[in-house]
Amino acid sequence: CGIIGRVGDGNAFEPLLTGLENLEYRGYDSAGIAVQNGSGINVEKRSGKVDELRESIDDTPLEGSVGIGHTRWSTHGPPTDENAHPHTDETKDVAVVHNGIIENYAELKSELADYGHEFTSDTDTEVIPHLIQFYLDEGMDNETAFRRAIDELEGSYAVTAMLSGKDVLYAARQGSPLVVGMEDGEYFLASDVPAFLEYTDSVVYLEDGDVVIVDDDGVEFTDLDGNSIEREPETVEWDPEQAGKGEYDHFMLKEIHEQPTALSQALEGRIDTQNARIALADFEPGTFADVDSVQFVACGTSYHAALYGSLALKQAGIESTALLANEYSVSAPPVDDDTLVVAVTQSGETADTLNALRQAEAEGAMTVTVTNVVGSTAAREADEALFIRAGPEIGVAATKTFSSQAVMLTLLGQRIAADRHGEPSADLETLLPDLAAMPDAIDDLLAETDAEAIAERYHGSRSYFFIGRGLGFPVALEGALKFKEITYEHAEGFASGELKHGPLALVTPDTPVFAIFTGQEDEKTLKNAEEAQTRGAPVIAVCPEGHRAVDVADAHLEIPETDADLAGLLANVQLQLVSYYAADLLDRPIDKPRNLAKSVTVE
Ligand code: G6P
Repeated sequence: CGIIGRVGDGNAFEPLLTGLENLEYRGYDSAGIAVQNGSGINVEKRSGKVDELRESIDDTPLEGSVGIGHTRWSTHGPPTDENAHPHTDETKDVAVVHNGIIENYAELKSELADYGHEFTSDTDTEVIPHLIQFYLDEGMDNETAFRRAIDELEGSYAVTAMLSGKDVLYAARQGSPLVVGMEDGEYFLASDVPAFLEYTDSVVYLEDGDVVIVDDDGVEFTDLDGNSIEREPETVEWDPEQAGKGEYDHFMLKEIHEQPTALSQALEGRIDTQNARIALADFEPGTFADVDSVQFVACGTSYHAALYGSLALKQAGIESTALLANEYSVSAPPVDDDTLVVAVTQSGETADTLNALRQAEAEGAMTVTVTNVVGSTAAREADEALFIRAGPEIGVAATKTFSSQAVMLTLLGQRIAADRHGEPSADLETLLPDLAAMPDAIDDLLAETDAEAIAERYHGSRSYFFIGRGLGFPVALEGALKFKEITYEHAEGFASGELKHGPLALVTPDTPVFAIFTGQEDEKTLKNAEEAQTRGAPVIAVCPEGHRAVDVADAHLEIPETDADLAGLLANVQLQLVSYYAADLLDRPIDKPRNLAKSVTVE
């Protein structure tokens, strides 16, 4: 989601709306602004794009020099007018925009309800203005009430609040980005620099725990207790046109680099490492107690995530299968009311997947969708939805949503096993810390990758093959799909053991083979890779440092050590980068490959 706030002379309306337009790449299912004037706070918000908000208020722009705005990517509740930000308390004395997830919102909401507070949205955000109002009612001044409210929040947030009667903005950051823009007499708060780049390039990046107070005279940087802190402005040198991509040349590369954040958001509040427990409060206790078998349905990259999830579930001792959604009507195994059908779809709008979901429902299966879009058709039609919270993905070739889907499916599988058998099958004491460490592991990998050099070295080959076994197999398929989608070069993924049953006929010195090692029967995969090598093909091992494959292969891409259930996802990040750099060398339109659409809503 995107946040903008503005303090200064003149009307805040235009800078706020421009800010929202600049932020639409961060979320675009609803938008709103709130502006402060002599008579209090005025809020305009609605579902739909920023354009629609602008059209609906262009004739009567809100008057006032201080304001906040928000463009939303739903994580709690569908994209309705009520769920759009800014949120206010009942008296409309406090307006708040927020990014992130308030983990303890349910407790806060019920406590506030006991004091007579009434809520009008499904969002976690709405507790914040109510909490501030609660402390104002206790007699605290604006600043103290804001600090007290922030102190009560658990989870991640970037919050900006405006309180009636004072031309001041209050903001706080914990785990979700927030930046300050400074120009003489005009100040901005935003989730991301492009929001205000037309107005200023002087920026302070806030850190976790920072609280800032912004008025006409400037910006006061403090910690939560109010102690002053030093924050130095930097000058950013981005071209506003390119700004949505930040420092990256393409959205795809940006989204590859967003994977640590996306995974942190996906995992937030959903794993309890201390007690070695999965805390998927998305489902009532015992939801999956009667599930006998699971069918995953999906297309494209989501199908590879589904294969990954299905394998993980089989390893957890539950009968499961992954099916291409477009084959489901002709190939579906029998379904009864103990069958769970999981529709995996980033957009929640893929026609093939929706058809499979509808067929499963008609046949009496219980259904769940794992999706990135709250309020999507799949989310509305399935019995239950599990949101991956990856944020909008602009590049047509899916990257961060694949990783987030695969991780959420791994968690869902353990949850199904726990409901079914009374306990999860994996050793959560080892799996959960490795899951929690995934964002850092991907950060490390991104900082040191040799993917660009590998792409250059094998540039211009005739075909590219990807092999893997077990959880490495869906990754091999995904590696090849990504490669063909954006480079337009021929690429194929195979189960390692299948190479010798046909594809080996294609192997020559001109067909590099990427071999993925996840810790599952690696010796066999290595043997298969050597079979290709014997025929002259260069082998690129994707494996941890010190792995035996490093000595055998012609080159390697390193992945950090992790659980065998997760290693394939790290290998996948390396392969995403190889595809990206290979496509860049060929000057392909990486974010919009020919003939492909982000979401295919026809059969
Ligand atoms: C299209 C996209 C693919 C995507 C597939 C499924 O074909 O080009 O990248 O994987 O749809 O999309 P979904 O939204 O259902 O995950």
